[in-house]
Amino acid sequence: MKIAVTRRIPEAGVEVLINAYGREHIRLCEEDSAMTRDALLDFIAGADAILSTVTDTLDAEAMDAAGPDLKVIANMAVGYDNISLEAAAARGIQVTNTPGVLTEATADLAWTLILGAARRAGEAERCLRAGHWDGWGPLQFLGRSVYGQTLGIFGMGRIGRAVARRARGFDMTILYHDAKPLDEETEQHLAARRVEKEVLLRNADILSIHCPLTPETRHAFTINEFRQMKRTAMLVNTSRGPVVKEEDLCVALHEGLIDAAGLDVYEYEPCVYPGLLLEERAFLLPHLGSATVETRGTMAHIAAENIVAALAGRVPPNKVVPGE
Ligand code: DGY
Repeated sequence: MKIAVTRRIPEAGVEVLINAYGREHIRLCEEDSAMTRDALLDFIAGADAILSTVTDTLDAEAMDAAGPDLKVIANMAVGYDNISLEAAAARGIQVTNTPGVLTEATADLAWTLILGAARRAGEAERCLRAGHWDGWGPLQFLGRSVYGQTLGIFGMGRIGRAVARRARGFDMTILYHDAKPLDEETEQHLAARRVEKEVLLRNADILSIHCPLTPETRHAFTINEFRQMKRTAMLVNTSRGPVVKEEDLCVALHEGLIDAAGLDVYEYEPCVYPGLLLEERAFLLPHLGSATVETRGTMAHIAAENIVAALAGRVPPNKVVPGE
């Protein structure tokens, strides 16, 4: 049995694997950075299971490099757009993810971006640290109010709903767009109303993206969408970078088509579109949605448990079913 863990992960996950298979059967990458493509293909060769992260691209080539013993890829993430489900299905490889456990942490981070971008926290902190702050001023760093505004949620899955729950404390009007409507009880509980994308774009003061990356959602936000938004609006993205065409977002901020952006994810991670780095009104974080000690520990634990179940011939608890 050979389990390949492609990156340093929290001990909680490693322990599950060591207890199940013994240390000698686990190939642990000790690095805290993504492997090069060649190193990854080499590292996973001969594996029965791979515990991967969002920085590993696991396509047909990688699965073939792993070889015929590969039975399961357990992604330590809720998203799995880094894995080709078609290639996995064609080879009889199961794919698992870690849904649910990172909902609250990611919703908290979306709110960090909402409040940080609205109140110009990034700009203000940069000014203070650079020693440029000369005391309180009546016109200094005037941001925008969040309380009582309209929140638009694009993608009303677990994380979108958790963001909406928090918005109730800010007395916000909540609109959402999702192909699947919420059931009536949940809509009422969240005081959320489903609308068409155009209505969301036109009415949101804060538009927060929470959809998965699919062929349909890639570049769901381009200059066409920004032109329909309020000039005072803010875009927040904690889902996947390619949902937003970064070059267009940069133009939208620069030309004042929208007022601000809060981003945790990028189109070509770890690269950020250079113009965005120059936009003061972009509040930028480095893909931290699930980054709490508790959440990452649980994610690692769950990913490892999925491997144990799959290799024991059981249906892993978090098997990804395409289309669900
Ligand atoms: C996920 O889980 O999909 C995040 O992006 C990584 O934590």
